[in-house]
Amino acid sequence: MAGCDFDTGIDNKDKQYNEQSPIFYEPRFFNDEGFTLKIRPISPNDTDAWIIFVNGLSPNSKYYRFHHIIKDVCAKDAQPFCSIDYINSFALIAELVKDGLPEIIAVGRYTRINKSTNAEFAIVVDDDFQRRGIGAEIMKELAKVASMNKITTFEGYTLIENYEIINFLTKCGFILKVVPRTAMQHVSFPTDRMVGVRGFEPPTT
Ligand SMILES: CC(C)(COP(=O)(O)OP(=O)(O)OC[C@H]1O[C@@H](n2cnc3c(N)ncnc32)[C@H](O)[C@@H]1OP(=O)(O)O)[C@@H](O)C(=O)NCCC(=O)NCCS
Repeated sequence: MAGCDFDTGIDNKDKQYNEQSPIFYEPRFFNDEGFTLKIRPISPNDTDAWIIFVNGLSPNSKYYRFHHIIKDVCAKDAQPFCSIDYINSFALIAELVKDGLPEIIAVGRYTRINKSTNAEFAIVVDDDFQRRGIGAEIMKELAKVASMNKITTFEGYTLIENYEIINFLTKCGFILKVVPRTAMQHVSFPTDRMVGVRGFEPPTT
């Protein structure tokens, strides 16, 4: 199964990053009416939950996330998405806190492009849980982790009709650069500069 179609023609490919140890991410909790979510890094033990999550997404959410119609995913597909190195590849999941098997509600991830300071980002939230602030919470946390891992820029292609992702990223406070291309738009933004978000420096340019 292919992931998002992301640009690999990066600006920062000459910049170096330092090899380092994975950062420790303290799980966070997200409370809404009637449910609590635990936001934590994905692990290889999450493959079954990841498969159920992806196969349960609506065709529209799958299309926006993966840029084409995907068939049901299987364990072989799940393995690379759940086995990450926590530095150059990182994924945060929102897990429903309840009895029984873990249930994934959202996944945000980044993958460093070669050894640059840029990374591809992707995010998707279960259709029944969209518009409750979960995506924003994950995306902002992911940017903080990326910044700590010396990733300065998130980038990726999104479908031109997916205006929602532009609204969403803008509402998160990211300072977007959007370049339209045929059928797609290339979106990039700094991981450490957001408008109106405490803990982040305001833009200087
Ligand atoms: C885009 C996506 C991740 C947003 O997640 P979410 O949890 O629903 O977003 P939030 O509730 O945190 O939204 C924060 C803000 O973003 C904006 N936003 C989010 N979804 C939006 C939509 N469908 N249309 C317009 N604006 C939207 C809103 O301003 C929203 O704030 P508000 O609800 O107070 O108005 C989710 O809709 C999704 O999974 N979409 C399908 C996959 C996708 O497009 N991924 C991107 C490509 S990798």
